[in-house]
Amino acid sequence: MGMMPKRPRHRPRGSILAAIDVGSTKIACFIARVEDEDRLQPIGIGHQLSQGVKAGAIVDMEAATAAIAQAVNAAEQMAGETIREAMVNLSAAHVESHPLTVEVAISGHQVGDLDLRRALASARQVERPGETEIVHAIPVGYAIDGMRGIEEPRGMFGQTLGVQLHAIAANAGAVRTMGVCVADAHLNVEGICVGPYASGLATLVDDEMDLGCVLIDMGGGTTEIGVFVEGVCVHVDCVPVGGAHVTRDVASGLSTSLTHAERIKTLYGAAFASAADERELIDVPQIGDAESHGPNHLPRSFLTSIIQPRLEETFEMVRGKLEASGFHAAAGRRVVLTGGASQLAGVRELAQLILDKQVRLARPFRIPGLAENAAGPAFATAAGLLRFAARMPDDLKSLPAAQQAPTSLFGKVGHWLRENL
Ligand SMILES: Nc1ncnc2c1ncn2[C@@H]1O[C@H](COP(=O)(O)OP(=O)(O)OP(=O)(O)O)[C@@H](O)[C@H]1O
Ligand SMILES: [Mg+2]
Repeated sequence: MGMMPKRPRHRPRGSILAAIDVGSTKIACFIARVEDEDRLQPIGIGHQLSQGVKAGAIVDMEAATAAIAQAVNAAEQMAGETIREAMVNLSAAHVESHPLTVEVAISGHQVGDLDLRRALASARQVERPGETEIVHAIPVGYAIDGMRGIEEPRGMFGQTLGVQLHAIAANAGAVRTMGVCVADAHLNVEGICVGPYASGLATLVDDEMDLGCVLIDMGGGTTEIGVFVEGVCVHVDCVPVGGAHVTRDVASGLSTSLTHAERIKTLYGAAFASAADERELIDVPQIGDAESHGPNHLPRSFLTSIIQPRLEETFEMVRGKLEASGFHAAAGRRVVLTGGASQLAGVRELAQLILDKQVRLARPFRIPGLAENAAGPAFATAAGLLRFAARMPDDLKSLPAAQQAPTSLFGKVGHWLRENL
């Protein structure tokens, strides 16, 4: 008997995919056409200052909905296409990541897609505390009759199939709130992908995915962590501190407005002191006295002394999360930084020092052909969502749902099955 045919892993050529990254700083909508296999052609890009989102959480639905709708409209106009559904990110601030093993009986027959589907569906039945639901059930490894290390069980025989999963459970309320905002912007949530998982899909090279690597997405309201080992996302986590905190520190430290602080930070800010900082002077407009006094000159080193402690603290928190996760060693020696806040001068050097790993800055290289203004590190999540969407075969949606799987608002069962089969 031959091998069971593998389910196609990509959307058909010509399909149109859409992704929405609801960030704390900006909301981005990417629309792309599937060229072939893993090749996507971006055809519409819209981005928009975020409203109603703080630290990855929606805090004002009406404002968030309006900003989502604007980003989507801009992308649709550029694409000349109307989209009906989109892949949407969920901040790692709303999720909990844990390993989970499930078993199903296969009673001597050959393992097929249905068995894998049953195994994944049973992950949903596992008792979980409070109001949470599984958004990802990522197979990390398989065992048949207790024999572990099986990489592709389809076609094999045995009595019991065990699947080791990386389960990511989300706060159910946060998922629903997001779904309603997107629905109010006249779109369906096609599926959900946790932020750092998506960002990793857009920025990591195969070797990094395979050999082990920590992805750190430095956003405005959060710093999100994804650990990848042997090609699989094995852990996600989040630190509730981001670039907006740095901007606030600068505003209060220099007694200037948030707008000026943001500009001063991006123009002159650094995470790491250099000798030249002492000599260089920067202009700081003061709050409220713009006309009465001339600009205030300060050494650049003073600005660095405001920024550096916040970033040190952030990377120390990341290190603490990694140590607590148990994946610190498995994650290898490599760290990849992305996200808008990774663009601050000296961030790579500081991360290297505190995390004691090799650190690289990354942009979303996996979706070539993005215009310059949408190809920066702030767009890693949006680009990764497209890639995540592309890998899901279209046809699985039409397959009957696995037994017992509860019906849910967005058909998430279909979503994580499509992702994982
Ligand atoms: N050139 C730059 N230098 C330093 N910081 C920058 C630069 N450009 C953008 N940032 C910072 O990046 C942050 C926004 O990053 P990003 O767009 O990735 O956030 P987000 O995805 O909207 O937020 P989150 O992921 O936390 O929800 C802001 O705090 C901004 O100050
Ligand atoms: Mg982000």
